[in-house]
Amino acid sequence: MGVVRPVVGSRLPAVVEVPRGPLRVDPEREGPIRLSLIVPTYDESRNLEELLRQLTAVLEPRLAGEYEILVVDDDSPDGTWAVAMRLSERWPAVRVMRRRSEKGLSTAVIRGWQAARGEVLAVIDADLQHPPEVLGRLWEAMRAGADLAVASRHVEGGGVSDWSALRRALSRGAQLLGLAVLPSVVGRVSDPMSGYFMVRRSAIAGAELSPLGYKILIEVLGRGRIRTISEVGYVFRERLAGESKVTASLYADYLRHLVRLRLATLPARFPRFAAVGLTGVGVDMALLFLLSDPRALGWGLTQSKVLAAEAAIVNNFMWNDSWTFRDIARQLGGGGARLKRFARFNLICGMGLALSVLLLSLQVDVLGVNRYLANGIAIALVTAWNFWINKAFSWAPPEARRAAPAPLARRRAAVP
Ligand code: GDD
Ligand code: MN
Repeated sequence: MGVVRPVVGSRLPAVVEVPRGPLRVDPEREGPIRLSLIVPTYDESRNLEELLRQLTAVLEPRLAGEYEILVVDDDSPDGTWAVAMRLSERWPAVRVMRRRSEKGLSTAVIRGWQAARGEVLAVIDADLQHPPEVLGRLWEAMRAGADLAVASRHVEGGGVSDWSALRRALSRGAQLLGLAVLPSVVGRVSDPMSGYFMVRRSAIAGAELSPLGYKILIEVLGRGRIRTISEVGYVFRERLAGESKVTASLYADYLRHLVRLRLATLPARFPRFAAVGLTGVGVDMALLFLLSDPRALGWGLTQSKVLAAEAAIVNNFMWNDSWTFRDIARQLGGGGARLKRFARFNLICGMGLALSVLLLSLQVDVLGVNRYLANGIAIALVTAWNFWINKAFSWAPPEARRAAPAPLARRRAAVP
Protein backbone atom coordinates (compact mmCIF):
# COMPACT_ATOMS: atom_id res chain seq x y z
CA MET A 1 0.00 0.00 0.00
CA GLY A 2 1.47 3.46 -1.00
CA VAL A 3 2.55 5.80 1.76
CA VAL A 4 -0.40 8.06 2.73
CA ARG A 5 0.88 11.65 3.03
CA PRO A 6 -1.60 14.23 4.32
CA VAL A 7 -2.44 16.77 1.66
CA VAL A 8 -0.75 20.06 2.71
CA GLY A 9 -4.05 21.93 2.37
CA SER A 10 -5.81 19.46 4.73
CA ARG A 11 -2.98 19.37 7.29
CA LEU A 12 -4.17 20.18 10.82
CA PRO A 13 -2.64 23.36 12.30
CA ALA A 14 0.63 22.56 14.08
CA VAL A 15 -0.44 24.57 17.13
CA VAL A 16 -2.66 22.60 19.49
CA GLU A 17 -5.03 24.24 21.97
CA VAL A 18 -4.41 23.37 25.64
CA PRO A 19 -7.41 21.32 26.85
CA ARG A 20 -9.17 22.59 29.99
CA GLY A 21 -10.93 20.93 32.89
CA PRO A 22 -10.29 17.54 34.50
CA LEU A 23 -7.43 15.36 33.27
CA ARG A 24 -9.61 12.81 31.52
CA VAL A 25 -8.93 11.22 28.12
CA ASP A 26 -11.90 10.90 25.76
CA PRO A 27 -12.84 7.45 24.46
CA GLU A 28 -13.66 8.84 21.03
CA ARG A 29 -11.08 9.73 18.36
CA GLU A 30 -11.36 10.68 14.69
CA GLY A 31 -9.14 10.35 11.62
CA PRO A 32 -6.33 8.11 10.42
CA ILE A 33 -3.97 8.59 13.36
CA ARG A 34 -3.11 5.31 15.12
CA LEU A 35 -0.20 6.41 17.33
CA SER A 36 0.11 9.70 19.23
CA LEU A 37 3.54 10.22 20.79
CA ILE A 38 3.75 12.93 23.46
CA VAL A 39 7.09 14.66 24.08
CA PRO A 40 6.96 16.74 27.27
CA THR A 41 9.54 19.52 27.15
CA TYR A 42 11.04 22.08 29.44
CA ASP A 43 14.17 23.83 28.19
CA GLU A 44 14.98 21.20 25.55
CA SER A 45 15.58 23.51 22.58
CA ARG A 46 19.03 22.01 21.90
CA ASN A 47 17.72 18.42 21.79
CA LEU A 48 14.60 18.81 19.68
CA GLU A 49 15.98 18.74 16.15
CA GLU A 50 17.99 15.57 16.68
CA LEU A 51 15.12 13.98 18.63
CA LEU A 52 12.52 14.68 15.92
CA ARG A 53 14.90 13.51 13.19
CA GLN A 54 15.35 10.17 14.98
CA LEU A 55 11.65 9.82 15.89
CA THR A 56 10.44 10.39 12.33
CA ALA A 57 13.14 8.07 11.00
CA VAL A 58 11.73 5.29 13.22
CA LEU A 59 8.00 6.02 12.73
CA GLU A 60 7.76 7.08 9.08
CA PRO A 61 8.55 3.63 7.61
CA ARG A 62 6.01 2.00 9.93
CA LEU A 63 3.22 4.50 10.24
CA ALA A 64 3.47 7.13 7.50
CA GLY A 65 0.44 9.42 7.78
CA GLU A 66 -0.87 7.49 10.77
CA TYR A 67 1.15 8.96 13.60
CA GLU A 68 1.59 12.32 15.28
CA ILE A 69 4.30 13.71 17.55
CA LEU A 70 2.88 16.22 20.02
CA VAL A 71 5.45 18.41 21.77
CA VAL A 72 3.95 19.75 25.02
CA ASP A 73 6.06 22.64 26.26
CA ASP A 74 5.48 24.55 29.49
CA ASP A 75 6.49 27.92 28.10
CA SER A 76 10.21 27.12 28.37
CA PRO A 77 12.44 30.15 28.96
CA ASP A 78 14.74 28.81 26.18
CA GLY A 79 11.89 29.00 23.66
CA THR A 80 11.60 25.26 23.06
CA TRP A 81 8.00 25.79 21.81
CA ALA A 82 9.22 28.20 19.12
CA VAL A 83 11.90 25.73 17.97
CA ALA A 84 9.25 23.01 17.84
CA MET A 85 6.99 25.24 15.75
CA ARG A 86 9.77 25.86 13.28
CA LEU A 87 10.63 22.17 13.08
CA SER A 88 6.98 21.24 12.48
CA GLU A 89 7.37 22.88 9.08
CA ARG A 90 9.92 20.23 8.16
CA TRP A 91 8.07 17.32 9.80
CA PRO A 92 4.28 17.54 9.20
CA ALA A 93 3.56 14.89 11.85
CA VAL A 94 4.84 17.30 14.52
CA ARG A 95 2.33 19.43 16.48
CA VAL A 96 3.01 21.79 19.37
CA MET A 97 1.11 22.62 22.57
CA ARG A 98 2.40 25.60 24.56
CA ARG A 99 1.12 25.65 28.16
CA ARG A 100 1.38 28.93 30.01
CA SER A 101 -0.81 28.43 33.07
CA GLU A 102 0.04 24.83 33.98
CA LYS A 103 3.40 23.20 34.70
CA GLY A 104 4.68 19.70 35.40
CA LEU A 105 5.81 16.60 33.47
CA SER A 106 2.85 14.32 34.21
CA THR A 107 0.08 16.81 33.58
CA ALA A 108 1.84 17.88 30.36
CA VAL A 109 1.67 14.29 29.14
CA ILE A 110 -2.02 13.92 29.98
CA ARG A 111 -2.94 17.24 28.35
CA GLY A 112 -1.13 15.94 25.30
CA TRP A 113 -3.11 12.68 25.42
CA GLN A 114 -6.32 14.68 25.71
CA ALA A 115 -5.55 16.59 22.51
CA ALA A 116 -4.20 13.52 20.73
CA ARG A 117 -6.06 11.59 18.05
CA GLY A 118 -4.40 8.15 18.19
CA GLU A 119 -5.84 4.86 19.49
CA VAL A 120 -2.44 4.30 21.10
CA LEU A 121 -1.04 7.02 23.37
CA ALA A 122 2.68 7.13 24.07
CA VAL A 123 5.27 9.22 25.90
CA ILE A 124 9.02 9.69 25.45
CA ASP A 125 11.45 12.18 26.99
CA ALA A 126 12.97 14.88 24.79
CA ASP A 127 16.60 14.49 25.85
CA LEU A 128 17.32 11.23 23.98
CA GLN A 129 17.86 9.31 27.18
CA HIS A 130 15.01 7.12 25.91
CA PRO A 131 16.34 5.57 22.63
CA PRO A 132 13.78 6.27 19.84
CA GLU A 133 14.49 2.95 18.12
CA VAL A 134 12.76 1.16 21.04
CA LEU A 135 9.47 2.66 19.78
CA GLY A 136 9.41 -0.03 17.09
CA ARG A 137 9.31 -2.86 19.63
CA LEU A 138 6.79 -1.04 21.81
CA TRP A 139 4.54 -0.55 18.78
CA GLU A 140 4.82 -4.24 17.85
CA ALA A 141 3.76 -5.16 21.38
CA MET A 142 0.71 -2.89 21.10
CA ARG A 143 -0.17 -4.36 17.70
CA ALA A 144 0.04 -7.80 19.31
CA GLY A 145 -2.75 -6.71 21.66
CA ALA A 146 -1.13 -5.37 24.82
CA ASP A 147 -2.99 -2.66 26.75
CA LEU A 148 0.33 -1.27 27.96
CA ALA A 149 3.86 -1.66 26.59
CA VAL A 150 6.61 -0.38 28.89
CA ALA A 151 10.27 0.31 28.07
CA SER A 152 12.03 -1.12 31.12
CA ARG A 153 15.54 -0.77 32.51
CA HIS A 154 15.00 -3.86 34.67
CA VAL A 155 14.36 -6.66 32.19
CA GLU A 156 16.65 -8.51 29.79
CA GLY A 157 18.49 -6.02 27.59
CA GLY A 158 17.68 -3.23 30.06
CA GLY A 159 19.94 -1.01 32.17
CA VAL A 160 21.22 2.49 32.78
CA SER A 161 24.38 3.94 31.23
CA ASP A 162 26.52 5.41 34.04
CA TRP A 163 24.35 6.28 36.98
CA SER A 164 25.98 7.02 40.30
CA ALA A 165 25.41 4.46 43.07
CA LEU A 166 23.34 7.11 44.86
CA ARG A 167 20.99 7.59 41.86
CA ARG A 168 20.60 3.80 41.50
CA ALA A 169 19.84 3.51 45.23
CA LEU A 170 17.33 6.37 45.08
CA SER A 171 15.56 4.87 42.06
CA ARG A 172 15.41 1.36 43.59
CA GLY A 173 14.45 2.84 46.97
CA ALA A 174 11.55 4.67 45.34
CA GLN A 175 10.48 1.42 43.69
CA LEU A 176 10.59 -0.52 46.98
CA LEU A 177 8.59 2.18 48.73
CA GLY A 178 6.04 1.96 45.94
CA LEU A 179 5.90 -1.82 46.34
CA ALA A 180 5.27 -1.45 50.07
CA VAL A 181 2.48 1.11 49.68
CA LEU A 182 0.91 -0.05 46.39
CA PRO A 183 1.98 -3.66 45.71
CA SER A 184 -0.93 -4.42 43.37
CA VAL A 185 -0.07 -1.39 41.21
CA VAL A 186 3.69 -0.89 41.40
CA GLY A 187 4.29 -4.66 41.41
CA ARG A 188 2.70 -5.10 37.96
CA VAL A 189 5.77 -3.93 36.08
CA SER A 190 9.53 -4.29 36.56
CA ASP A 191 10.20 -0.57 36.00
CA PRO A 192 7.28 1.42 37.49
CA MET A 193 9.44 4.57 37.35
CA SER A 194 9.75 4.34 33.57
CA GLY A 195 8.77 7.47 31.67
CA TYR A 196 8.76 5.64 28.32
CA PHE A 197 5.67 3.60 27.37
CA MET A 198 2.59 3.20 25.17
CA VAL A 199 -0.98 2.70 26.45
CA ARG A 200 -4.23 1.86 24.64
CA ARG A 201 -6.63 4.82 24.74
CA SER A 202 -9.57 2.55 25.64
CA ALA A 203 -7.68 1.33 28.73
CA ILE A 204 -7.54 4.80 30.32
CA ALA A 205 -10.44 6.64 28.64
CA GLY A 206 -12.87 8.21 31.10
CA ALA A 207 -10.66 7.69 34.15
CA GLU A 208 -9.92 10.94 35.98
CA LEU A 209 -6.14 11.06 36.23
CA SER A 210 -4.46 13.19 38.89
CA PRO A 211 -0.73 12.53 38.93
CA LEU A 212 1.82 14.43 40.97
CA GLY A 213 5.39 15.14 39.81
CA TYR A 214 7.02 12.71 37.38
CA LYS A 215 5.51 9.23 37.79
CA ILE A 216 2.81 9.09 35.13
CA LEU A 217 3.08 5.29 34.69
CA ILE A 218 1.90 4.41 38.20
CA GLU A 219 -1.08 6.74 37.67
CA VAL A 220 -1.98 4.85 34.47
CA LEU A 221 -1.56 1.49 36.25
CA GLY A 222 -3.50 2.67 39.32
CA ARG A 223 -6.50 4.27 37.62
CA GLY A 224 -6.56 2.60 34.19
CA ARG A 225 -8.15 -0.69 33.14
CA ILE A 226 -4.87 -2.38 32.20
CA ARG A 227 -5.21 -6.12 31.52
CA THR A 228 -2.18 -7.21 29.49
CA ILE A 229 1.26 -5.67 29.86
CA SER A 230 4.34 -6.11 27.69
CA GLU A 231 7.85 -5.03 28.66
CA VAL A 232 10.80 -4.22 26.43
CA GLY A 233 14.34 -3.87 27.74
CA TYR A 234 16.23 -0.67 26.99
CA VAL A 235 19.31 1.16 28.26
CA PHE A 236 18.66 4.59 29.76
CA ARG A 237 21.35 6.76 28.15
CA GLU A 238 23.05 10.03 29.02
CA ARG A 239 21.32 13.24 28.07
CA LEU A 240 22.26 14.74 24.68
CA ALA A 241 22.23 18.33 26.02
CA GLY A 242 20.91 20.35 28.98
CA GLU A 243 20.16 19.40 32.59
CA SER A 244 17.75 16.98 34.25
CA LYS A 245 14.84 18.82 35.82
CA VAL A 246 14.63 16.36 38.72
CA THR A 247 14.57 18.21 42.07
CA ALA A 248 14.38 16.95 45.67
CA SER A 249 10.76 18.13 45.86
CA LEU A 250 9.93 15.48 43.23
CA TYR A 251 10.61 12.79 45.82
CA ALA A 252 8.09 14.44 48.15
CA ASP A 253 5.67 14.60 45.21
CA TYR A 254 6.23 10.90 44.61
CA LEU A 255 5.40 10.07 48.24
CA ARG A 256 2.24 12.18 48.13
CA HIS A 257 1.33 10.57 44.81
CA LEU A 258 1.68 7.08 46.32
CA VAL A 259 -0.51 8.02 49.31
CA ARG A 260 -3.09 9.65 47.06
CA LEU A 261 -3.26 6.57 44.82
CA ARG A 262 -3.32 4.29 47.86
CA LEU A 263 -6.37 6.09 49.27
CA ALA A 264 -8.03 6.15 45.84
CA THR A 265 -7.52 2.43 45.24
CA LEU A 266 -8.29 1.23 48.75
CA PRO A 267 -10.74 -1.68 48.68
CA ALA A 268 -14.18 -0.64 49.89
CA ARG A 269 -13.86 -2.95 52.90
CA PHE A 270 -10.78 -1.23 54.31
CA PRO A 271 -12.56 1.62 56.16
CA ARG A 272 -14.77 -0.98 57.91
CA PHE A 273 -11.74 -3.11 58.78
CA ALA A 274 -9.96 -0.04 60.18
CA ALA A 275 -13.06 0.94 62.21
CA VAL A 276 -13.25 -2.57 63.67
CA GLY A 277 -9.53 -2.31 64.45
CA LEU A 278 -10.26 0.85 66.45
CA THR A 279 -12.89 -0.94 68.55
CA GLY A 280 -10.24 -3.60 69.15
CA VAL A 281 -7.85 -0.96 70.50
CA GLY A 282 -10.63 0.13 72.84
CA VAL A 283 -11.19 -3.45 74.08
CA ASP A 284 -7.41 -3.91 74.47
CA MET A 285 -6.99 -0.70 76.48
CA ALA A 286 -10.04 -1.31 78.72
CA LEU A 287 -9.05 -4.90 79.52
CA LEU A 288 -5.40 -3.92 80.07
CA PHE A 289 -6.63 -1.41 82.65
CA LEU A 290 -9.06 -3.83 84.35
CA LEU A 291 -6.50 -6.64 84.54
CA SER A 292 -3.18 -4.85 85.22
CA ASP A 293 -4.01 -1.55 86.91
CA PRO A 294 -3.23 -1.65 90.67
CA ARG A 295 -6.59 0.07 91.30
CA ALA A 296 -8.29 -2.89 89.54
CA LEU A 297 -7.12 -6.58 89.54
CA GLY A 298 -3.40 -5.57 89.49
CA TRP A 299 -2.23 -8.65 87.57
CA GLY A 300 1.23 -8.81 85.92
CA LEU A 301 1.66 -6.59 82.80
CA THR A 302 2.68 -9.33 80.34
CA GLN A 303 -0.17 -11.76 81.10
CA SER A 304 -2.62 -8.84 81.20
CA LYS A 305 -1.34 -7.59 77.81
CA VAL A 306 -1.57 -11.06 76.23
CA LEU A 307 -5.16 -11.52 77.48
CA ALA A 308 -6.13 -7.98 76.43
CA ALA A 309 -4.63 -8.50 72.97
CA GLU A 310 -6.41 -11.85 72.58
CA ALA A 311 -9.73 -10.32 73.62
CA ALA A 312 -9.18 -7.59 71.02
CA ILE A 313 -8.48 -10.25 68.36
CA VAL A 314 -11.71 -12.12 69.29
CA ASN A 315 -13.65 -8.81 69.17
CA ASN A 316 -12.18 -7.89 65.80
CA PHE A 317 -12.85 -11.32 64.37
CA MET A 318 -16.49 -11.26 65.39
CA TRP A 319 -17.08 -7.82 63.88
CA ASN A 320 -15.14 -8.53 60.70
CA ASP A 321 -16.87 -11.88 60.17
CA SER A 322 -20.34 -10.43 60.76
CA TRP A 323 -19.81 -6.99 59.16
CA THR A 324 -16.69 -6.26 57.12
CA PHE A 325 -16.64 -9.61 55.29
CA ARG A 326 -20.27 -10.57 56.00
CA ASP A 327 -21.06 -11.58 52.39
CA ILE A 328 -17.98 -13.79 52.03
CA ALA A 329 -18.42 -15.30 55.54
CA ARG A 330 -21.94 -16.33 54.52
CA GLN A 331 -20.56 -18.14 51.46
CA LEU A 332 -17.82 -19.81 53.49
CA GLY A 333 -20.28 -20.97 56.19
CA GLY A 334 -20.45 -21.12 60.02
CA GLY A 335 -19.44 -23.79 62.56
CA GLY A 336 -16.13 -25.47 61.69
CA ALA A 337 -15.50 -23.14 58.75
CA ARG A 338 -15.85 -20.13 61.07
CA LEU A 339 -13.52 -21.69 63.61
CA LYS A 340 -10.95 -22.21 60.84
CA ARG A 341 -11.34 -18.57 59.82
CA PHE A 342 -10.86 -17.52 63.45
CA ALA A 343 -7.73 -19.66 63.77
CA ARG A 344 -6.26 -18.11 60.62
CA PHE A 345 -7.24 -14.61 61.77
CA ASN A 346 -5.71 -15.24 65.19
CA LEU A 347 -2.45 -16.51 63.65
CA ILE A 348 -2.17 -13.62 61.19
CA CYS A 349 -2.97 -10.97 63.84
CA GLY A 350 -0.55 -12.70 66.23
CA MET A 351 2.17 -12.37 63.58
CA GLY A 352 1.04 -8.76 63.17
CA LEU A 353 1.56 -8.18 66.88
CA ALA A 354 5.09 -9.58 66.67
CA LEU A 355 5.70 -7.46 63.58
CA SER A 356 4.54 -4.31 65.40
CA VAL A 357 6.94 -4.98 68.29
CA LEU A 358 9.74 -5.52 65.76
CA LEU A 359 8.88 -2.36 63.81
CA LEU A 360 8.64 -0.35 67.03
CA SER A 361 12.05 -1.35 68.33
CA LEU A 362 13.61 -1.01 64.85
CA GLN A 363 12.39 2.56 64.54
CA VAL A 364 13.14 3.60 68.13
CA ASP A 365 16.38 1.72 68.81
CA VAL A 366 17.92 1.77 65.29
CA LEU A 367 16.49 4.81 63.52
CA GLY A 368 15.98 6.92 66.67
CA VAL A 369 12.39 7.77 65.74
CA ASN A 370 10.14 9.25 68.47
CA ARG A 371 8.40 6.32 70.23
CA TYR A 372 4.86 7.59 69.76
CA LEU A 373 5.39 8.42 66.07
CA ALA A 374 7.06 5.02 65.68
CA ASN A 375 4.09 3.33 67.36
CA GLY A 376 1.68 5.13 65.02
CA ILE A 377 3.68 4.00 61.96
CA ALA A 378 3.86 0.42 63.31
CA ILE A 379 0.07 0.34 63.89
CA ALA A 380 -0.59 1.70 60.36
CA LEU A 381 1.71 -0.86 58.73
CA VAL A 382 0.36 -3.75 60.80
CA THR A 383 -3.22 -2.72 60.07
CA ALA A 384 -2.32 -2.91 56.36
CA TRP A 385 -0.66 -6.32 56.96
CA ASN A 386 -3.70 -7.62 58.92
CA PHE A 387 -6.09 -6.39 56.27
CA TRP A 388 -4.37 -7.70 53.16
CA ILE A 389 -3.26 -11.03 54.55
CA ASN A 390 -6.64 -11.74 56.21
CA LYS A 391 -8.47 -10.66 53.04
CA ALA A 392 -6.29 -13.11 51.08
CA PHE A 393 -6.36 -16.03 53.55
CA SER A 394 -9.13 -15.75 56.17
CA TRP A 395 -11.90 -14.36 53.97
CA ALA A 396 -10.81 -15.50 50.51
CA PRO A 397 -14.03 -15.95 48.47
CA PRO A 398 -14.74 -19.66 47.68
CA GLU A 399 -14.11 -19.14 43.94
CA ALA A 400 -10.71 -17.57 44.71
CA ARG A 401 -9.77 -20.62 46.78
CA ARG A 402 -10.87 -22.98 44.01
CA ALA A 403 -9.01 -21.28 41.19
CA ALA A 404 -5.99 -19.55 42.78
CA PRO A 405 -4.68 -17.65 39.68
CA ALA A 406 -1.11 -17.86 38.39
CA PRO A 407 0.94 -14.72 39.10
CA LEU A 408 -0.07 -11.62 37.04
CA ALA A 409 -0.14 -12.02 33.25
CA ARG A 410 3.10 -10.40 32.24
CA ARG A 411 4.15 -11.10 28.72
CA ARG A 412 7.58 -10.11 27.55
CA ALA A 413 7.48 -8.52 24.12
CA ALA A 414 8.10 -11.19 21.55
CA VAL A 415 9.97 -8.75 19.34
CA PRO A 416 13.80 -9.28 19.89
N1 GDD B 1 6.18 20.03 29.82
C1 GDD B 1 7.04 19.76 30.79
N2 GDD B 1 6.88 20.40 32.01
N3 GDD B 1 8.05 18.88 30.56
C2 GDD B 1 8.92 18.64 31.58
C3 GDD B 1 8.82 19.25 32.85
C4 GDD B 1 7.73 20.18 33.06
O1 GDD B 1 7.56 20.75 34.12
N4 GDD B 1 9.85 18.79 33.64
C5 GDD B 1 10.56 17.94 32.85
N5 GDD B 1 10.01 17.86 31.63
C6 GDD B 1 10.46 17.04 30.50
C7 GDD B 1 11.93 17.22 30.18
O2 GDD B 1 12.10 18.31 29.33
C8 GDD B 1 12.26 15.87 29.55
O3 GDD B 1 11.86 15.85 28.21
C9 GDD B 1 11.37 14.91 30.34
O4 GDD B 1 10.33 15.68 30.90
C10 GDD B 1 12.14 14.19 31.46
O5 GDD B 1 12.73 15.13 32.28
P1 GDD B 1 14.20 14.90 32.91
O6 GDD B 1 14.45 16.00 33.83
O7 GDD B 1 15.18 14.62 31.83
O8 GDD B 1 13.95 13.57 33.77
P2 GDD B 1 15.02 12.42 34.16
O9 GDD B 1 15.85 12.04 32.97
O10 GDD B 1 15.71 12.79 35.36
O11 GDD B 1 14.01 11.22 34.49
C11 GDD B 1 13.31 10.66 33.40
O12 GDD B 1 13.58 9.29 33.25
C12 GDD B 1 13.23 8.52 34.32
C13 GDD B 1 13.51 7.08 33.95
O13 GDD B 1 12.69 6.65 32.88
C14 GDD B 1 11.82 10.82 33.60
O14 GDD B 1 11.11 10.28 32.50
C15 GDD B 1 11.40 10.06 34.79
O15 GDD B 1 10.01 10.05 34.91
C16 GDD B 1 11.78 8.60 34.66
O16 GDD B 1 11.56 7.94 35.85
MN1 MN C 1 16.21 12.92 31.21
